[in-house]
Amino acid sequence: MTSEWSPSSWQSRPAAQQPPWPDEAGLERAIKHIGSLPPLVFAGEARALTAQLAQVAEGQAFLLQAGDCAESFDAFSADAIRDKLKVILQMAVVLTYSTGVPVLKVGRIAGQFAKPRSSPTETIEGVELPSFRGHMVNDIVPTEAARVPDPERLVQAYHQSAATLNLLRAFTKGGFADLSRVHQWNQEFVASSPEGRRYDRMADHIGRALRFMAACGIDTVSQPSLHEVDFFTSHEALVLGYEQALTREDSITGRWYDCSAHMLWIGERSRQIDGAHVEFLRGVDNPVGCKVGPGATADEVLALCEALNPDRVPGRFTLITRMGAGQIATRLPPLLAAVRDAGHPVVWACDPMHGNTFTSDTGRKTRDFDAVLAEIAGFFAAHWDEGTWPGGVHIELTGEDVTECLGGGDALGHADLDDRYETMCDPRLNGRQSIDLAFQVAELLDRH
Ligand code: TRP
Ligand code: PEP
Ligand code: MN
Repeated sequence: MTSEWSPSSWQSRPAAQQPPWPDEAGLERAIKHIGSLPPLVFAGEARALTAQLAQVAEGQAFLLQAGDCAESFDAFSADAIRDKLKVILQMAVVLTYSTGVPVLKVGRIAGQFAKPRSSPTETIEGVELPSFRGHMVNDIVPTEAARVPDPERLVQAYHQSAATLNLLRAFTKGGFADLSRVHQWNQEFVASSPEGRRYDRMADHIGRALRFMAACGIDTVSQPSLHEVDFFTSHEALVLGYEQALTREDSITGRWYDCSAHMLWIGERSRQIDGAHVEFLRGVDNPVGCKVGPGATADEVLALCEALNPDRVPGRFTLITRMGAGQIATRLPPLLAAVRDAGHPVVWACDPMHGNTFTSDTGRKTRDFDAVLAEIAGFFAAHWDEGTWPGGVHIELTGEDVTECLGGGDALGHADLDDRYETMCDPRLNGRQSIDLAFQVAELLDRH
């Protein structure tokens, strides 16, 4: 693990979950092309995120990482991006206002196009097909031809990421995220619900607080922090050829950054300590994360800390636990204790989605809002017991009014799932469920 690193050194390690590209020459061409294109994010931004995550590691801030399970090449409109941003801003403002703790906003967005699969094939209406691996690789349409990995999709993923980032930068720095617009992030289908009305009441209080500060003589007009947010991007660093092509040497520090996103994480299925994904991410200076499921041992987790953050830089490494509501109380505490006792400065984030997925009576992959909430409650409880900081949450959501997860304020039942089940991959919380969750997380944080 201490051997020389280069952007291609991962190639000598076993790489899990890589698509079986049939067109090798096309793959090489696409990767070379991406390598000649400008970086999507800049080293200085990644360093800024590490610094902010260091605040989380120290218990001074909270991480909200959220977005689609898989972004789509089809659902690519300014409105969809704006609505996703709206719900994340709403959750952030709920958490910030209710807890008084700074909230980092990191999207699963502008690059979340590749999916690990538990099986290389899936059976759809009796036909066995290669699995859908995300729009960066193949198409979701259930035909043999659509499922062939197409390297040109890597280039398309780059361009869609660039356009998404451009819009996010405009929205977050150009007035849309201004605290005076806090009411306007509340979409109609949310505003008419109890969670939405609760949100509107809180927004009234924020408006009042801003007017109070202005009346006290504080210059709220020229204070940029009231009008803008820092919004960062992240995705699972899965297809390593793509990540390598966007890995660039920073001219200021001489260090390597994966400029496809500010933060990258390793999935539960590709976190082998001697595998290609750990090898690749150990050498880039971005903040990095790793998912850990219920099978993870304390030794494995400590080995990941050592491999990915040997210098123990606070903010460099985030452990994203996804144990399942039923297992969190037994699986998480030994990991918290081991990492704490080893003195590793990690950010602990709770992914309450991936350990709570099941197939509904009607054959839909779904999650129950109550299980999501129960896992978060278990996450907080474990941290309070161990004296560690529950640094954040990692959520799959959308701004749209979808019906993919059960429960929540409108008590979606099994029969409702067919109404608007639109996800490309895993079931996401809709706008109402997301706001509801933010209030409940804020209460859990505050109760301590
Ligand atoms: N800039 C501050 C922050 O990001 C305050 C802020 C402005 C804010 N707009 C926001 C917070 C939207 C949450 C959501 O915390
Ligand atoms: C995901 O985040 O969409 C995912 C596949 O998670 P995990 O690696 O934890 O299963
Ligand atoms: Mn997912």
